[in-house]
Amino acid sequence: MPVSVMPTSRSAASPAVSTADLRKSYGDKAVLDGIDLRIPSGSVFALLGPNGAGKTTTVKILSTLIAADGGQAQVAGHDVATSPDGVRAAIGVTGQFAALDDLLTAEENLLLMADLLRLGKREGRRRAQELLDRFDIADVAKNRAATFSGGMRRRLDIAMTLVGDPKVIFLDEPTTGLDPRSRRTMWETVRSLVAGGTTVFLTTQYLEEADQLADRIAVLDGGRIVAEGTADELKAQIPGSHVRLRFTDPAEYDRAITAFPGATRDDENLALRVAGDAGMDALRALFDRLDAVGIRAADFSVHTPDLDDVFLALTGDGTADTSRHVKETQR
Ligand SMILES: Nc1ncnc2c1ncn2[C@@H]1O[C@H](COP(=O)(O)OP(=O)(O)O)[C@@H](O)[C@H]1O
Ligand SMILES: [Mg+2]
Repeated sequence: MPVSVMPTSRSAASPAVSTADLRKSYGDKAVLDGIDLRIPSGSVFALLGPNGAGKTTTVKILSTLIAADGGQAQVAGHDVATSPDGVRAAIGVTGQFAALDDLLTAEENLLLMADLLRLGKREGRRRAQELLDRFDIADVAKNRAATFSGGMRRRLDIAMTLVGDPKVIFLDEPTTGLDPRSRRTMWETVRSLVAGGTTVFLTTQYLEEADQLADRIAVLDGGRIVAEGTADELKAQIPGSHVRLRFTDPAEYDRAITAFPGATRDDENLALRVAGDAGMDALRALFDRLDAVGIRAADFSVHTPDLDDVFLALTGDGTADTSRHVKETQR
């Protein structure tokens, strides 16, 4: 790779995945109603959406399993409609249904894939061993896939898709159904993929997962991308951090209102919402201010916006009052 080429200019020149006005309907239901995406090479992209949003449909179109009704899509420089073979040669796809053969061992599964890809015996064995090591399944290489836990199956499944050394890998809900521990292991796996230069297109219903893994996130809802950006950019679109102070004594509550004129009142609960960042210094300053006027709150909670808030604020599940959606973090 020429070192003179800046990664940014290179990715700007040739995105790993790009779509323009991508459309797909089933009957009279528009599942994808004009999707525009641009995913730089070597990044992790998360398509975030609830069940039925059209995530799998998008992955299927991009991996040439089904055809779009309209619009364009390129993957690794190949058009899905006019050069499906080029796309297929450049991608790996892992869906909710694993491509594993339960009767074969982990190693045999990988060797079978190497065979299908006509890598040759020696290269196939080398590649299988490398992937067994990399995905931490070397110890159980001789065990049948049927004996594997959910997390191990997903790892082996991803290893299978990597036999062909794809440029772009699609992971459709890679952690759905996994326990929290396996989910974390899977996150590490995804991170290691990117470290190896692969572009990862993942779908998820989990906001935290997108937040943890993705360089950029697109929120899919009602057949459209309703928001797109980094996790931080999305978070910036909703109300910021605040501290909620609750009082038991109405007189004290009234004095607090005077002391914090900019705060939002919740008279019913004798609570005040004070905007500001949730760091230690800001909290200390807040308490100092309370002390200075001799007010004591019954309790307090710190609220930091996360992707849940973004999602609810953007997908129309909520109302215009986004304050309802601020998730509470009791400290
Ligand atoms: N082959 C199909 N025929 C009819 N409707 C479909 C078909 N595949 C998907 N759909 C519908 O398209 C919508 C999006 O599905 P899907 O892409 O699987 O969503 P997601 O993966 O986000 O859960 C759903 O309402 C689903 O019922
Ligand atoms: Mg799906």
